[in-house]
Amino acid sequence: MNYRHAYHAGNFADVMKHASLALIINYLKLKEKPFFILDTHAGTGRTDLSGIEAQKTGEYRDGIARILAHEHPHELLKPYLETLAQLGCEGPEPTSYPGSPLIAYTLARPQDRLSFCELHPEDSAALRALFHKFKRAKVFEIDGYTALKSMLPPKERRGLILIDPPFEQRSEFERILQEIEQFHVRFATGTMMIWYPIKDPSLSGAFVEHLEHTGPEKTLRAELFIRASDDPTRMSGCGLIIINPPFTLPDQLTTLFGWLKDVLAQDPGARARVEWIKK
Ligand SMILES: C[S@@+](CC[C@H](N)C(=O)[O-])C[C@H]1O[C@@H](n2cnc3c(N)ncnc32)[C@H](O)[C@@H]1O
Repeated sequence: MNYRHAYHAGNFADVMKHASLALIINYLKLKEKPFFILDTHAGTGRTDLSGIEAQKTGEYRDGIARILAHEHPHELLKPYLETLAQLGCEGPEPTSYPGSPLIAYTLARPQDRLSFCELHPEDSAALRALFHKFKRAKVFEIDGYTALKSMLPPKERRGLILIDPPFEQRSEFERILQEIEQFHVRFATGTMMIWYPIKDPSLSGAFVEHLEHTGPEKTLRAELFIRASDDPTRMSGCGLIIINPPFTLPDQLTTLFGWLKDVLAQDPGARARVEWIKK
């Protein structure tokens, strides 16, 4: 495991993923009934943007820093940006950026329960230190995929599973396809959000094509490209697969990603696409 999220924290991929996460959690909060959130690849929970890693790539400058510097951020970013502000991430020069566990925890309510899996010993120690006082969130230093078996279905019978692996291995897409099948058997009514990178479009394209043939009903794909996809060694975009999305989400993401592609564009090839893979 060589991947360290600190190099990428707050980049365009985090923005699109975390803004979508906030919209889904806000929807879950419309009902009083408690929900469960499982983050299978959780990271450290917070990144110091003045640290060596974030400064080395400077990726956050073309991600969250652009959003925070914008005079009129889109209103669909409100739950995300309000959460960041609560966590001390404000513009125009943010000094830290929260990860998915901290964003989810801040949005969740006292009756909700959260589990975070992180396999890297240093990162899981950092995450544990961040959450050790909070009873409704638990950190596990385990392979997040095993949690899909041991922790589902949740007793709450409603909730969100976030799968956000590092994609260090080409086999990650295949692994996810297997897990989706299992997920559907164990927790068919839950919402699952999977993040994936788009470098070589044929690789992510094959993943989506497989889902078109074998995936569950109610599967949405939302992709954001910040540049033309002409170099398969660089991440030109990234996508989310969302199974059982809130019914409001397709329209929200169509509008929001249309706005993000203009604000986060790095060349004229920037574009967005939100569509049902299976309805
Ligand atoms: C993309 S980062 C997660 C970012 C985080 N979800 C966020 O949005 O802030 C992927 C994380 O997964 C961890 N990881 C890699 N393989 C794992 C596995 N099998 N189970 C759990 N965590 C894993 C890595 O150490 C890394 O911290």
